[in-house]
Amino acid sequence: MSELLKTQEIIYSKGNAIKVYTDKDIASAYVAERIAKIIKGKQSTGERAVIGLATGSTPKGVYKELVRLHKDEGLSFRNVSTFNLDEYYPILPIDDQSYVSFMKNNLFNHIDIDSDYVHIPDGTLSIEGIQAYCDLYEQKIVDFGGLDIQLLGIGRTGHIGFNEPGAVSDSRTRLVTLNDITREDAKDDFGGKEKVPTQAITMGVQTITQAKEVILMALSSRKAEIIKKALEGEVSADIPATFLQRLSNVEYILDSEAASLLSK
Ligand code: PGA
Repeated sequence: MSELLKTQEIIYSKGNAIKVYTDKDIASAYVAERIAKIIKGKQSTGERAVIGLATGSTPKGVYKELVRLHKDEGLSFRNVSTFNLDEYYPILPIDDQSYVSFMKNNLFNHIDIDSDYVHIPDGTLSIEGIQAYCDLYEQKIVDFGGLDIQLLGIGRTGHIGFNEPGAVSDSRTRLVTLNDITREDAKDDFGGKEKVPTQAITMGVQTITQAKEVILMALSSRKAEIIKKALEGEVSADIPATFLQRLSNVEYILDSEAASLLSK
């Protein structure tokens, strides 16, 4: 096996599969392949694949590979429905920093997905209309048959989606307040922390954990500390990613840097 393809797999006593890659591109290609397999499997039975998507720097390589699979290998997304985890609030879809723009730039503009089947929380709603909208977002996921797979990054606060510390395990799609560290981490995108919205709409912890499969990705040394807490710490709302420890259908895809503080 070439050095590049070498991965180290650790199975923790809690039963979670953790794959550690020396090469981020190989890690991303693995995740893209997992998603492509679900899409093709559903195509063979004439069904729709329901894919939960994430934004941020971490999944960019996955989207790049999915675009390559579409362009070079004919992977079609005509049978795909997507639900994104979250969106800033308030924000206009046309704003550069919106997750609508992110998803178009990184994936949707380059594949054959039908935009009628793309769902991203709406950052333009009036405050009064948000909860009803969020309830409908949940209902739509159920109506599509549930998420076949949910892709996640992790914030330095331990957030999944924008479920910041304090988010409980039965939380659902709702308006939340962003943690200070999260706003600090987003400041370069917005040209200053004071310009980062203070709120967001996010799927809840329960929405995420009800997915049939979950993949959490963390790439870079910036995530090493939180990855150790998320995978080895006590399950607690203080670090919402710890709720994934209770699942048997979660896979952690890490690079060596993000995995560097894990007990061997
Ligand atoms: P990042 O964000 O991929 O940009 O590090 C991850 C997250 O906040 O979930």
